[in-house]
Amino acid sequence: MSTPFSAAFSDINQHERYKLLCAAICPRPIALVTCVSEAGVVNAAPFSFFNVFSEDPALIVLGLQHRSPKAGAGFVAKDTTRNIARSGEFVVNMVDEALAEAMNVTAIDFPPDVSEIDAAGLTLLPGVTIPVPHIAEAPIAFECRKTVSLVFGPQRELIIGEVVRIHARAGLIDPATLRVDVEAYKPVGRLFANSYSRQSDRFELTRESYADWAAARAKA
Ligand SMILES: Cc1cc2nc3c(=O)[nH]c(=O)nc-3n(C[C@H](O)[C@H](O)[C@H](O)COP(=O)(O)O)c2cc1C
Repeated sequence: MSTPFSAAFSDINQHERYKLLCAAICPRPIALVTCVSEAGVVNAAPFSFFNVFSEDPALIVLGLQHRSPKAGAGFVAKDTTRNIARSGEFVVNMVDEALAEAMNVTAIDFPPDVSEIDAAGLTLLPGVTIPVPHIAEAPIAFECRKTVSLVFGPQRELIIGEVVRIHARAGLIDPATLRVDVEAYKPVGRLFANSYSRQSDRFELTRESYADWAAARAKA
C-alpha cells in the first residue's frame, strides 16, 4: 500500500475489475426495480449499476448482468431483464434507510413464480401511466418505459428507460417548489460487497461563474 497503484484493465480478471470498479465508483444509488412477468407475478430486485442520464428526455440507465451458466448451459437473463424485454415497462423504486433491509431480501434469487414483494413484506400500489405497480414503502418511485437496450457480449445488458411519472411519499416533495426534502428522504447508497452508506454527513459548495471567480482572484 506504500506505492501508488496502477494497472491496465487488460491485465485484471473479471472479478478483480468488479471489485475495483464497485469500490472506487461509490456510493451508487440503488434502483429497486419492479416489473411484471408474463404470468402476472410482480418481480422486485435491486440494481446499483444505475443512474440518471438526462432530464430531457428524462432517461435513467440500468446495468443488468446475466446469471452464470450451470454446467453446459449459457448465461441466463435475470427475471427483471426478461420481464422488461417482454413488456418494455418497469418502475424504479428508490431505497431509503427504512427500506434497505427489505431491499436486501428482494436480491435473493427467488424463482420466477415467487414474488419478492411478499417475501420481503412489502406492499404494492397500482401504476398510473404504466400497468406496473410501485412499492408503497419506497420514498420515491419512477414509472419508466424502456427506450433502448444495448447488449454487450453474452453476459451484459444496458437498459435505458424514459421516466414517464414520479410518485413521492407525502412530505418529501414540495408541490409548489418541487424541492425534495433530503432530511426526510434519507436515501442509501451502495458502496461495495455488503457495505452501504447514509447521506447524513453532507457539505455544500457554491458553484461560481468564471466572471465571479476571476473577480475574486483579482481582488485577492
Ligand atoms: C444492492 C444491490 C445491488 C445490485 N446491483 C445489481 C446490478 O446493478 N446489476 C445486476 O445484474 N445485479 C445486481 N444485483 C443483484 C440482483 O439484485 C440479484 O441478482 C437479483 O436476484 C435479481 O433478481 P431477478 O432475477 O428477480 O431480476 C444487486 C444486488 C444488490 C443487493
